[in-house]
Amino acid sequence: MNILAIDTSCDDTSVAITEDRKLLANVFWSKIKTYEKWGGVVPSEAKRQHIEFLPKALEKAFEDVNAALNQQPQSKNPKSKFTIENIDSIAVTYGPGLAIALESGIQTAKNLAKKHNKKLIAVNHMIGHIYSNLVLDENGKSYSGVDEFEFPLLALTISGGHTDLYLMHNHFDFNHIGYTIDDAIGETFDKVGRMIGLPYPAGPKIEKLAQEGNEDAFKFPRPMSNSNDYLWSYSGLKTAVLYTIKKLVDEYEDKPQKKKFKVEDLSEKLTDQQIKDIAASFQRAAVEALLIKVKKALVEFNPKMLVVGGGVIANSYLREKLQAECEKKDVPLYYPKPIWLCTDNAAMIGVTGYYYAKYNKFVENIDELDRIPNLRI
Ligand code: KG4
Ligand code: ZN
Repeated sequence: MNILAIDTSCDDTSVAITEDRKLLANVFWSKIKTYEKWGGVVPSEAKRQHIEFLPKALEKAFEDVNAALNQQPQSKNPKSKFTIENIDSIAVTYGPGLAIALESGIQTAKNLAKKHNKKLIAVNHMIGHIYSNLVLDENGKSYSGVDEFEFPLLALTISGGHTDLYLMHNHFDFNHIGYTIDDAIGETFDKVGRMIGLPYPAGPKIEKLAQEGNEDAFKFPRPMSNSNDYLWSYSGLKTAVLYTIKKLVDEYEDKPQKKKFKVEDLSEKLTDQQIKDIAASFQRAAVEALLIKVKKALVEFNPKMLVVGGGVIANSYLREKLQAECEKKDVPLYYPKPIWLCTDNAAMIGVTGYYYAKYNKFVENIDELDRIPNLRI
């Protein structure tokens, strides 16, 4: 089954073509730099970018498939061109995400489906992050190392907007057992990053700085670590980092800072080493707070595997710590190894679409499909 997939949930314009679980083409268009000065994504800018880039990204995706086909020595009929006529269904993210950004992808997908008489599949972006583990490369090899999901499994989604844990007993059978009661883990990386002068998205930059910092330099809390549940809370950690920074700045300026909570760039008044130590100590606290609950769930549910998706699993410090815990509990751990498959992408939407199709989950009335910005699993 060939699927043309589109994801415009946030600021990346992304289009992919998949054949069952195999990725044939994967195109990204991102102009993230425009957001740096704002410290976050500007929805109207994201929308403008999607409208401008979607046609080019679609064209490039078909070009890439054709280029790959022509390179194959065994190609039986090199003259035949792969076009939208070779596509069976169109899969598009309909939520969660930024409303006006989602809208661009949905409109494009609807138009294409109607014009070319294709079935439409509306994909939940967060299910996409979980199923990103099932994407295969052009040789049919899994990017995460997992051949198929084995149930029951635990699925952890950690991104800019989500920190969630699900127990799955089958495909599309999600039992939501854990979530954050305030900020998401990725959002916390971004906000702490802002305090130490890092542009959005700050996660990768914090990871890099942390490598040169002392993770024992500051004692930050691991909120909710003693609660007997699968809830997380990151806003207290964020506040603790801010107060630590304000204290350092007080010492620097020899006068107390305003106590009001505000995420702001205070990096000018910090030394490079202080910034690195804050990054390392914060990263450790954020990761440990996550792991406390994951460890507990591994024991309670004894899953066949733990699968992880979302931008934050790009973090190699987290990868190592999580791997060590899973080995202790003898639970196989899977996450997409390439960073582009952890952060937002359409490849995962194509493969998730393939599973939707297998379970006959097509959009019944194309005109009625609407974005759902706060869609849940
Ligand atoms: O999945 P994603 O691309 O978009 C959402 O659906 O939210 O995740 C983006 C989030 C951002 O908050 C970003 O700072 C975080 O993932 N992130 C990281 C790393 N790379 C991306 N956080 C920590 N360490 C990283 N290396
Ligand atoms: Zn995402």
